[in-house]
Amino acid sequence: MSLSVRTFHFFVFLHLVCTIDVPLDLPQPPTITNQSVKNYIVDPRDNIIIECEAKGNPYPTFSWTRNGKFYNVAKDPKVSFRRHAGTLVIDIHGGGRPEDYEGEYQCFARNEHGVALSNKILLQVSKSPLWPKEKLDPVVVNEGGSLILQCNPPHGLPPPVIFWMSSSMEPIAQDKRVSQGLNGDLYFSNVLRQDALTDYSCNARSHFTHTIQQKNAYNLKVLTTRGVPERTPTFLLPTGTSSSKLVLRDEDLLLECIASGVPTPDIMWYKKGGELPTLKLKFENFNKTLRIVKVSEEDSGEYFCQASNRMGSIRHTISVRVKAAPYWLDEPKNLILAPGENGRLVCRANGSPKPIIQWLMDGEPIVVPNPNFEVAGDTIIFREVQSGNSAVFQCNASNDHGYLLANAFISILDVPSRTLGPRNQQIRVIEYNRTQLDCPFFGSPIPTLRWFKNGQGSNLDGGNYRVHENGTLEINTVRKEDQGKYTCVATNILGKADNTVRLEVKEPTRIVKGPEDQIAKRGSTVRLDCRVRSDPSLRLTVTWMKDEAQLYIGSRMKKEEDALTIFGVAEKDQGAYTCLAKTELDQDFAKAYLTILETSSSPTSRLTSALRDKPDPPMDLELTDEAERSIRLTWTPGDDNNSPITGFIVQFEEDRHQPGTWHNLASVPGNVNSAVLNLAPYVSYKFRVLALNELGSSTPSPSSERYQTSGAPPEINPSDVRGAGTRKDNMEITWTPLNATQVYGPNLRYNVKWRQRNTGEPWSNVTVWTNRHVVWNTPVYSPYDIRVQAENEYGRAPEPGTIIGYSGEDFPSAPRNVRVYEPNRETVVLEWGPPENPNGNLTGFNLRYQAFNGSRSAKAVTELLSPNQTKYTVHRTDSVSRYRFFLSGRTQVGAGEVVTIESPLKQDEAPPTSGKVWKQRGKMHGGFMHD
Ligand SMILES: *[C@@H]1O[C@H](CO)[C@@H](O)[C@H](O)[C@H]1NC(C)=O
Ligand SMILES: *[C@@H]1O[C@H](CO)[C@@H](O)[C@H](O)[C@H]1NC(C)=O
Ligand SMILES: *[C@@H]1O[C@H](CO)[C@@H](O)[C@H](O)[C@H]1NC(C)=O
Ligand SMILES: *[C@@H]1O[C@H](CO)[C@@H](O)[C@H](O)[C@H]1NC(C)=O
Ligand SMILES: *[C@@H]1O[C@H](CO)[C@@H](O)[C@H](O)[C@H]1NC(C)=O
Ligand SMILES: *[C@@H]1O[C@H](CO)[C@@H](O)[C@H](O)[C@H]1NC(C)=O
Repeated sequence: MSLSVRTFHFFVFLHLVCTIDVPLDLPQPPTITNQSVKNYIVDPRDNIIIECEAKGNPYPTFSWTRNGKFYNVAKDPKVSFRRHAGTLVIDIHGGGRPEDYEGEYQCFARNEHGVALSNKILLQVSKSPLWPKEKLDPVVVNEGGSLILQCNPPHGLPPPVIFWMSSSMEPIAQDKRVSQGLNGDLYFSNVLRQDALTDYSCNARSHFTHTIQQKNAYNLKVLTTRGVPERTPTFLLPTGTSSSKLVLRDEDLLLECIASGVPTPDIMWYKKGGELPTLKLKFENFNKTLRIVKVSEEDSGEYFCQASNRMGSIRHTISVRVKAAPYWLDEPKNLILAPGENGRLVCRANGSPKPIIQWLMDGEPIVVPNPNFEVAGDTIIFREVQSGNSAVFQCNASNDHGYLLANAFISILDVPSRTLGPRNQQIRVIEYNRTQLDCPFFGSPIPTLRWFKNGQGSNLDGGNYRVHENGTLEINTVRKEDQGKYTCVATNILGKADNTVRLEVKEPTRIVKGPEDQIAKRGSTVRLDCRVRSDPSLRLTVTWMKDEAQLYIGSRMKKEEDALTIFGVAEKDQGAYTCLAKTELDQDFAKAYLTILETSSSPTSRLTSALRDKPDPPMDLELTDEAERSIRLTWTPGDDNNSPITGFIVQFEEDRHQPGTWHNLASVPGNVNSAVLNLAPYVSYKFRVLALNELGSSTPSPSSERYQTSGAPPEINPSDVRGAGTRKDNMEITWTPLNATQVYGPNLRYNVKWRQRNTGEPWSNVTVWTNRHVVWNTPVYSPYDIRVQAENEYGRAPEPGTIIGYSGEDFPSAPRNVRVYEPNRETVVLEWGPPENPNGNLTGFNLRYQAFNGSRSAKAVTELLSPNQTKYTVHRTDSVSRYRFFLSGRTQVGAGEVVTIESPLKQDEAPPTSGKVWKQRGKMHGGFMHD
């Protein structure tokens, strides 16, 4: 054999080998078919499953190493192999501790022809973070100053998702001024007074359990000043003027700059000496974060961010270096050789730093020199191989950032050509489609494959045909004349094999005349066409759908080959009709709308009524006659869609309290197109208009430009003022805060005043920015005078009215003057008076009583009595029993001190004495009498 022929053969061979599998009936070394990921984080609540599956002939046996040492699965009853695989199942539900199984696992699949290795699987158990307990002092900051609230999330695996909420679980709105950094901390470019209205709690959501851990909340105290001075930007993150960043190829590069300043600085990003790669670029977090997805080496370089406001600008330079974990240039592929052939395994990977290539054979270091092959760096060269030299080679390409492990076997076989797919297949395809005729084959040496049509002519390749390395013949656009019998022939020196495929080319299914939109009178007959052409050898079904659901063909309908007829149509027949024509290979559909008219009126007026709709939205909004407390809004109405416009609704939106929410402001008759709108002070208004007709409301018009009214002192005080205790020593004063059209000016606050009623004590007062204030150390259930007055930067609302509130309640003292008497032989009567200290709004009395006779007692009876009841009568069941009563008053806090009293002894039983009374919960107190 001459050198040039050898080289050519070799080249073709390398090309073919990559897509050919060795059929499993032939002896072959193991191939790993499924394994767990390299960094495997498991849920501690589940059984742990470490995957390792392989094929081979003979079927492989499996073993594992853990942390580099043989792992004796048989020694631990909690660990078992999954049936017919190497997959390990670790029983955690049965009591195993998941942490005991962390480590680096590697699976070995072995048969007499070689050993294949899985990746090194680093198993770690997910950990949910727990915040250390800490006490956070209020954070005091000057208005306009910068602020960083630290999150310091506990280390979780995988890292938890961080987000900020108030302690009442309202999300913290993020914007250019306030946002969360990549490290989880919350950054304020400058602090506003209203930042103190909420508190700030960092939350961590763990990956598997989805549980949320909440850190204690920070309370902000903002020291206000008259006028906040403007300041030039400074960076909160990163610090200094330059920093550097290392990123791995194919990962996302995230650069972050957060600046403080007044007004809030804008962030812009640039790359030195070049353009930012716009296609892979995202600005996130209000431009504070620059993301470049899937970086490659050319993304390294100097980036800088610039923070600027009208006082000045600063920049920070970040030099980015891109390194790479190893990635494949040439992954080694299984090598199938006939005895005496030559071949090579190539393992080429790139990376930064350049990866080191290490070869293993059946999982063991290679001993050189070896008579059967030669190792030359990334290539292993086999010359004149002999049967019996099968093995699995592992190539490990590694650098500081990772590794790649590939298994490739060499199998020395003497196998005549064979074809593997089903024989004499029949493929049906629609004309003009692309199709693939498969012909999987095998042999060693690897056979050459040729396709012929109708058993004649030359090898098919090129033009409309293409033969893939796996034997598949692809026909790009199938035409009628491509129908026929195709034969593939695989040839090697040991023999020849063939297979045939019959290709049938079918005509496409087409609706040649479909239904048309129709308007029909009620009671008339309607015909919807659907004439279909399809290949006569394919079974065609034509079905009808109405409004996207299968149509039920009732007695009023008739379905023919090329049409659907509906007799005596009614309103309910109105709708969209779809004809669907379908064969086993393809389908076509056509759709039309049927409108039904009532017969009584003329078709034309009904026609328009059928076309009636809600109006189109008004447009061209214009603001004129701008005054301090009013403005004129003018608009152009849209089409009325055949139903006269009956009115317009003017809505407004304001951007301080509920941006994005629209409120009704005025309604206007349908024949006018402008309105003078009354406006409240200190609202930044934006208007829009909706048109109404009989069928409903239009969509909103585009909105007008904004109009800001000037401020004024508030005119009203908050409503719903209440004072009520939540504990026995407090009173919570609450109210409904003013809304956007009532605040009238900036820095709205409430002056709360209170004093204990009728004691002559002076008013106490406090100013708050929220809608509640709690007064502490109050006496139990005492009335208070309360006033709440609104105030803004322009002044105060009129003096508010006084409302009466009560401090918190306590348990009542015992009912007074409790006595029992027996007015006759049938009844026992209990009488009492209200407690001396009700300690609250008495809600009633709890009464329990029980008949007894010597040491025997009947079942106790419980009654809940109303607060104004003072007497209770028991009807005796027998004449001898005595009765024991337990009575207590009750407030909403609960039942108070209990008085226990017994009915008197019968005269003849014992010395005459009164009923006995004693009390529980607190001191005895007089008042009990018996006569
Ligand atoms: C974000 O930055 C880009 C380029 O640096 C700039 O074009 C864009 O206007 C910025 N957007 C905002 C909201 O600041
Ligand atoms: C053969 O390879 C071609 C091209 O890669 C592919 O489209 C086709 O599905 C393959 N055929 C089989 C049977 O795997
Ligand atoms: C033929 O091609 C059309 C469009 O390319 C496709 O929707 C249809 O499924 C194909 N039919 C067959 C039988 O391959
Ligand atoms: C504010 O409250 C008043 C009275 O309840 C109401 O008429 C007005 O529409 C409200 N304004 C807003 C913006 O909600
Ligand atoms: C609030 O109380 C202080 C004394 O504590 C008093 O000087 C002040 O005038 C009071 N303010 C009002 C509005 O009553
Ligand atoms: C006392 O309670 C009654 C209902 O039990 C209620 O109607 C009344 O308003 C309450 N009075 C006070 C001052 O809380």
